[in-house]
Amino acid sequence: MNADVFTLFPQWFDWFRTQRHVENALAQGHSVDTVDFRSSTPLNWGQVDDAPFGGGAGMVLRVDVMEAALRERYGVDPVELPSRRRVIALTPIGRVLDDALATELAAEPELTLLCGRYEGFDERILEHFVTEQVSIGRYVLAGGELAAMVVLDAVLRKLPGVLGDDHSAIEESFSDALEGAPEYPHYTRPADWRGWVVPDVLLSGHHARVDEWRREQSRKRAGGPLP
Ligand code: ADE
Repeated sequence: MNADVFTLFPQWFDWFRTQRHVENALAQGHSVDTVDFRSSTPLNWGQVDDAPFGGGAGMVLRVDVMEAALRERYGVDPVELPSRRRVIALTPIGRVLDDALATELAAEPELTLLCGRYEGFDERILEHFVTEQVSIGRYVLAGGELAAMVVLDAVLRKLPGVLGDDHSAIEESFSDALEGAPEYPHYTRPADWRGWVVPDVLLSGHHARVDEWRREQSRKRAGGPLP
């Protein structure tokens, strides 16, 4: 997968790329590139945003700035992009990221993520240059960068070979393998800590019973939120 992130803070992604599973993905030929709006802005002094028409607080990312950045990166009129690749604007009001969306995005060969700041995007960007808006939850962040990292984290770990054990990404919370339910509890050594003991079945070496127990726990957790 080639993921391009358009942002005012490309250096934030330097840290993101140091995570083990992101490093693994990059080593396998996947990419996470950043494009800085300021390097292609047609405006003076690196300007990228402006006050909203009609008044109000905050600044809005300009459509001409976005067009210049997309045009420079892809060499086409950006109105053509939505028919060629998924172009995602990170916004608090978009489709909320879940396991199904992460799986869907992990199947894409190319992804474009657009990060807004402050009051967000000029609406014409959303109307003409993007395929969808994605949110990481119904709260407002100062910008889309952290949201883009969350999306990429969830997506990259689904790519084959990126996690140490591919099985980890298959049978996990909300996956089809667990029928969308939360994952079962895990335990490791010591088997007894302060009298808090690990369930016997997990120490039994009986794989079918372990499996059965895990599925039952997972179903139980689907009954409602955990304390
Ligand atoms: N930008 C600001 N808030 C956001 C959110 N909750 N999800 C995605 N992008 C955002």
